[in-house]
Amino acid sequence: MAPISNPGPEALASQAGGGAPAHVAIIMDGNGRWAAARGLPRFEGHRRGVEALRRTVRSAIDLGIRYLTVYSFSSENWRRPAQEVSDLMGLLKRFIRNDLADLHRNQVRVRIAGTREGLSDEIKSLLSEAESLTRDNAGLTLVVAFNYGSRQEIAEAAAALARDVAAGKIDASAITPEALAARLYTHGVPDPDLVIRTSGEVRLSNFLLWQAAYSEFVFTPVLWPDFDRAALESAIAEFHARDRRFGGVSVRVGASA
Ligand code: IPE
Ligand code: IPE
Ligand code: MG
Repeated sequence: MAPISNPGPEALASQAGGGAPAHVAIIMDGNGRWAAARGLPRFEGHRRGVEALRRTVRSAIDLGIRYLTVYSFSSENWRRPAQEVSDLMGLLKRFIRNDLADLHRNQVRVRIAGTREGLSDEIKSLLSEAESLTRDNAGLTLVVAFNYGSRQEIAEAAAALARDVAAGKIDASAITPEALAARLYTHGVPDPDLVIRTSGEVRLSNFLLWQAAYSEFVFTPVLWPDFDRAALESAIAEFHARDRRFGGVSVRVGASA
């Protein structure tokens, strides 16, 4: 049987070396609990969460991470009270307005993963501006999963493939994992090597279900507003202690034999 094409060379490179994993994805969770523990409104947790995001982007650049994906608003987060949804939209707008120039100066390339459906025109244009301004930057790629749901993403990719088959552009036999991946919001971005979730929850909550097929997972009790460079480095150290086999045999044993 032909070898399965995943993992890509970047995943293998980050498995072998002691450097940073090429792609780190983070489920930034625990803002509400951080605020509740201090008797503060949830909004304050979200505001401090944006500061943690800034710190994490800086740390990712310093550590040589190539891709950082952050889960900032899920397709299910619309179920929250209207005021909280509006606060989260407001923080995203503020983040782009305040930080875009700085990200651009630091060669960060911004990609948005998610559907634009249901978003205000103002947010849609800010998201497009962030992507188009930074499109040619060669530094860290920051993938912001916003209004993101992995099942919706996969369903949309399946629909795109169905349309291509119906239009006679491709044959049904050309529907491979690569063809589907090329129609995900994350097309062109290598699969995450490491997925971190803060706040102690141990679930994916509809995040990167396809892309994380062979990711390593680190769940930390740290609440997102407290996340810092040390917490990131500790997750990366745990990643390096893992033995990624991708269904094969241990590379480590092979290397030492
Ligand atoms: C993460 O923190 C931020 C978003 C999901 C937008 P939460 O708001 O989920 O915080 P907890 O889980 O209630 O503590
Ligand atoms: C996942 O966190 C979404 C983001 C971090 C943006 P949630 O707090 O929404 O997840 P659940 O509801 O606890 O699964
Ligand atoms: Mg939560």
